[in-house]
Amino acid sequence: MIFDRFFSMPNSHTFQMKPVADLLNQYVSRLSCIDPFARDSKWATVSNDINPEFCCQYQLDAVEFLDHCLNGWGMEGKFETVLFDPSLQSAPDCRMLSSDRAENENDRYAECEVV
Ligand SMILES: C[S@@+](CC[C@H](N)C(=O)[O-])C[C@H]1O[C@@H](n2cnc3c(N)ncnc32)[C@H](O)[C@@H]1O
Repeated sequence: MIFDRFFSMPNSHTFQMKPVADLLNQYVSRLSCIDPFARDSKWATVSNDINPEFCCQYQLDAVEFLDHCLNGWGMEGKFETVLFDPSLQSAPDCRMLSSDRAENENDRYAECEVV
């Protein structure tokens, strides 16, 4: 395993930060890649963001989206890369926007761990 450090100015579009984009260019297969927290990112073949303002294929809660990717839509887990970028900054939005299945923050994190 290789660990490296690079500096980049913070950007809410994480995947546009040069060191991150370079890393993605190296490893991401654009043929079968899913992104449950895509925002405006176009890296994935199948993109999702709970916020309908973003132009994604799906506007589902990430848990529901991943469930469909694993068990439905004919994909049955046949993808090579999962991009995972749910920033800490988006956590308050996450509580506000996501389904009401989780009654409090701890339940919400417990639900995420199941994934
Ligand atoms: C850090 S941004 C992703 C940035 C993206 N990787 C990029 O490079 O532009 C995190 C995104 O997760 C979305 N989000 C937050 N909670 C979510 C949830 N429960 N399910 C799906 N998307 C969620 C937010 O709307 C936000 O756009």
